[in-house]
Amino acid sequence: MVCTLTLHTDSGLINIFKTEVGTRLIDAIATDHSLNAPCGGRGTCGKCRVRATGKLSQSNSTELGLLTEADVAASIRLACLTTIEGDAEVWLTTENGQILTDGAEDVQLEAKPVFVCEKIFVPQATLDDQRSDEQRLSDALSGSGKLSLNVLKKLPGELKKGNGQIWIVRERDGAICDICADEPRLYAAAIDIGTTTLAAYMLDLQTGKVLTKCSAMNPQRGFGADVISRIDYSRTDGGLKKLQNAVVNEIGTMVRKMLGEIEAKDDDLRQIVCVGNTVMVHLLLGVSPENIAVSPFIPVLALEQRCMASELGLPFGNAVVETGPCVAGYIGADTTAAALACAMNQSAGTALLIDIGTNGEIALGNRERIVCCSAAAGPAFEGAHIRCGSGAVEGAISSVQLNDDGS
Ligand code: FES
Repeated sequence: MVCTLTLHTDSGLINIFKTEVGTRLIDAIATDHSLNAPCGGRGTCGKCRVRATGKLSQSNSTELGLLTEADVAASIRLACLTTIEGDAEVWLTTENGQILTDGAEDVQLEAKPVFVCEKIFVPQATLDDQRSDEQRLSDALSGSGKLSLNVLKKLPGELKKGNGQIWIVRERDGAICDICADEPRLYAAAIDIGTTTLAAYMLDLQTGKVLTKCSAMNPQRGFGADVISRIDYSRTDGGLKKLQNAVVNEIGTMVRKMLGEIEAKDDDLRQIVCVGNTVMVHLLLGVSPENIAVSPFIPVLALEQRCMASELGLPFGNAVVETGPCVAGYIGADTTAAALACAMNQSAGTALLIDIGTNGEIALGNRERIVCCSAAAGPAFEGAHIRCGSGAVEGAISSVQLNDDGS
């Protein structure tokens, strides 16, 4: 039987949709909104609080044990312990995270773009010059670079538009991946997929300069706060796909926002480079991370991966997605990226790298050797399993001061 669920957000948005009677409130909300669910909906953390009224299941002893009398009086329910029994209304509070996206400005890295462009002149075909478009272009390039079918399809139109002047976009290995009559704009997005937050940067591929950036909460947190909860959810029916879709959709939204800010088109984006812990990389690519949770904790993949953005469902037809190399099940591409960014792999002296995220990693070493380990840091700092714990969200207490009079 189908009923109606009305969602109110604190930004004033109201969304009304149909859902099946018997659905858990947390699952119905997840189709529209990312709800904080640190224990992954197991009914142990007490954090999936929403105000809800209408035809809902009675609170059981587990739910009542996690709520106060004032909560109950205010119609607060735990979404993972509440089942929809008919038409209902829910009021959601959006958590705006304080996400750090700035870093040291003095890190100088040489830009080595994967894509470069060059302008060439291709002579017009005549009755005396009967070479194909492909052959004339190939001759103009002295035979370097093979054209794909997609590029060949564009070739006559672009040659005509550019009156023989044409821009060639090549990959670093020389392969021609695009041609255009107008000078192409080449951009790349760099994404750090954290367990709790996402940070994204838009770069000019020619200069390596960061043009704009943005951040967002990782919508996967609605399926669990830590990597183990996410792995557990990925093993449920359809869970892996839901986790992948959640992060892919959010990345698509962030990249679109940044392209809009620099007045670029979707097709100007050539590359999306993602790093994250090993579980985040698996979930982005839609690869099951379940073996990472059990001894001997082996990931399916650890080397860098490459695919077209469209293969992941991202709407950027010219872009490739690349993930950085991971080291092991609990040392991911975010750690290798951090080690590269601070150049500890070139350092003669021994350096210590500490990344305190929801999953925390520590790396110690120099150009000879680097050793790393990791531990769950989120529960200590974000309070997933602490009654009054909180992430760095609006309203969280961030400092406390003791006055001289002891107050
Ligand atoms: Fe519902 Fe933890 S109690 S997500």
